[in-house]
Amino acid sequence: MTDTFVVTGGAGFIGSHLVDALLAEGNRVVVIDDLSSGDERRINPAAEFELFDIDDPERLDSVVDKASPRAIYHLAAQSSITKSVKDPRRDCDVNVRGTLQLLEAARRCAAPLVFTSSAGVLYGNLAPLPTPERFVPSPIAPYGASKWAAEAYIDTWANSSRLPHAVLRLANVYGRRQSPAGEVGVVAIFSYSLWRGERPRMYGHGKPTRDYIHVADVVEAMIRATGVRGTFNVATGFETSVEDVYSTLAGAAGSSIEPELLPLRDGELRRSCVDPSHAERTLGFRARVGVKDGLRRTYRELVEEFEAEASRESATTR
Ligand SMILES: NC(=O)c1ccc[n+]([C@@H]2O[C@H](COP(=O)([O-])OP(=O)(O)OC[C@H]3O[C@@H](n4cnc5c(N)ncnc54)[C@H](O)[C@@H]3O)[C@@H](O)[C@H]2O)c1
Repeated sequence: MTDTFVVTGGAGFIGSHLVDALLAEGNRVVVIDDLSSGDERRINPAAEFELFDIDDPERLDSVVDKASPRAIYHLAAQSSITKSVKDPRRDCDVNVRGTLQLLEAARRCAAPLVFTSSAGVLYGNLAPLPTPERFVPSPIAPYGASKWAAEAYIDTWANSSRLPHAVLRLANVYGRRQSPAGEVGVVAIFSYSLWRGERPRMYGHGKPTRDYIHVADVVEAMIRATGVRGTFNVATGFETSVEDVYSTLAGAAGSSIEPELLPLRDGELRRSCVDPSHAERTLGFRARVGVKDGLRRTYRELVEEFEAEASRESATTR
């Protein structure tokens, strides 16, 4: 029998990969997205697409009730730190109120939710490395506060509706379809600069470290977490410096362009690395893509996308 799944944010970077994986297993997928940062061309044509803002309760209720899904993957989010500082109310409306509305719909359909939170914005500079889930978050941006508040609602609704909702705290995700226009996708941003032959900006003089996880591993963790109650870091547990990311990508590009070295920006972490052992023990999940191989592969895939986009643009201006 075909199962139905709802994916909010299915036109986004991570959501579109998840939609492909669910469809490949023979499922029916309903995508909800307002295309605020997503792209309709990323949505697999075999999925059903509902274009609206998750902060529209009536539309959300009617679409989810009609789909009656086996599970809901909730990725739609206001995920720009800068926008959250400029307009914290909108950040809260989408990330908290939208999640609450979806939890109510999940309760009616008795469907477990899988939610994408963010390790990078929850754990601060004082966190032990690698950071375990039990470290009490201390976010410094409204975006971190809204993700943490959404986690609290999810936990509370899991208690009251007795549904096994899962919270996944993702590390820094990279892979095909990541937009170089975002503020955090350093792999896509560096790849775009290298492809254009431009000098990228490297903050913190290249020294900050992050835990980089490939999108294919994130999709696997999301599927394994379906129907498992708990909060899980989804990460590799390895620290990689920004300068090492750049040198691997520059090697893949055959480029000797030196980046522009700048000081760390306000609110940026010096080091970040997340402990994945709880997900390994409970979900049997372990990241499989090694960072160097993953970065080289991603560079080639992103270049194909940049070239396809450039030829589309030149065809429309002709
Ligand atoms: N990319 C990362 O490194 C990373 C790290 C930690 C957590 N996350 C989380 O993972 C999720 C997906 O991130 P991504 O990198 O794929 O981002 P993305 O911007 O590519 O995808 C988000 C999608 O949600 C849609 N969306 C945004 N607001 C919406 C609204 N109000 N109503 C309906 N749709 C809306 C966007 O149009 C977009 O398609 C987000 O919740 C993000 O906070 C991402």
